[in-house]
Amino acid sequence: MPEDHFGERVAERYDESSADMFEPAVVDPAVDFLADLAGDGAALELGIGTGRIALPLSQRGVRVQGIDLSEAMVARLRAKPGGDAIPVAIGDFATTTVEGTFSVAYLVFNTINNLTSQDQQVACFQNVAAHLEPGGCFVIEVGVPQLQRLPPGETVRPFDVSPNHLGFDEYDIASQGLISHHYSLVDGVWEAASTPFRYVWPGELDLMGRLAGMRLRERWSGWKRESFTSESRKHVSVWERTAS
Ligand SMILES: C[S@@+](CC[C@H](N)C(=O)[O-])C[C@H]1O[C@@H](n2cnc3c(N)ncnc32)[C@H](O)[C@@H]1O
Repeated sequence: MPEDHFGERVAERYDESSADMFEPAVVDPAVDFLADLAGDGAALELGIGTGRIALPLSQRGVRVQGIDLSEAMVARLRAKPGGDAIPVAIGDFATTTVEGTFSVAYLVFNTINNLTSQDQQVACFQNVAAHLEPGGCFVIEVGVPQLQRLPPGETVRPFDVSPNHLGFDEYDIASQGLISHHYSLVDGVWEAASTPFRYVWPGELDLMGRLAGMRLRERWSGWKRESFTSESRKHVSVWERTAS
């Protein structure tokens, strides 16, 4: 089982520290996009967390289930209105199975990168394919690796320098490894936390989809179907299950 980086200490501050990601301007387009793909079918969220997307999606009438490694994050979801109506399996979303089949499965907010090896990311696509109806879709929202912004010979890039938070990404290019280091000022005390990720290229995800019997259907730079270009910092990609 992968290490849980979303324990009690992170979970209790998750919604507050990610407040910008809970803004309706961010959440609503994602929910519109996913509700459209779900149609009359059910949705499976990998890394459901505290329900940022799952709760409003279920309030739209979509049957949502989730998988998450963190008991602490899921406890926050269950404490919210409507949260206990969403079934959640505790486990690794690369391997954990749940009952039923789904018209859409989704993995947002860079969470594919929490799987720190290519094997785990490939296994995740295969696990999703096993849960999708034929024609069902897998949606990933993830950043494009920012290697063009890393000066030659350097390994560390700051991504946030603000009064209460300093964030640095440390790259290991040979292994596509990335450790995000956070220094946060909490109640007057600086706290440090580091989380390992594996960054992944769009074309590499397409091959993972093919290995799992899916083909790329759409790729956008945002939930409102903005064009994906060479300048895009992130992508929202949809693969469709083709094989039985
Ligand atoms: C960045 S949070 C995103 C939560 C939610 N999807 C959102 O958009 O707010 C990542 C979530 O994925 C979960 N997670 C990370 N790696 C996981 C894994 N291998 N298996 C299951 N859950 C995982 C974490 O516990 C956490 O709840």
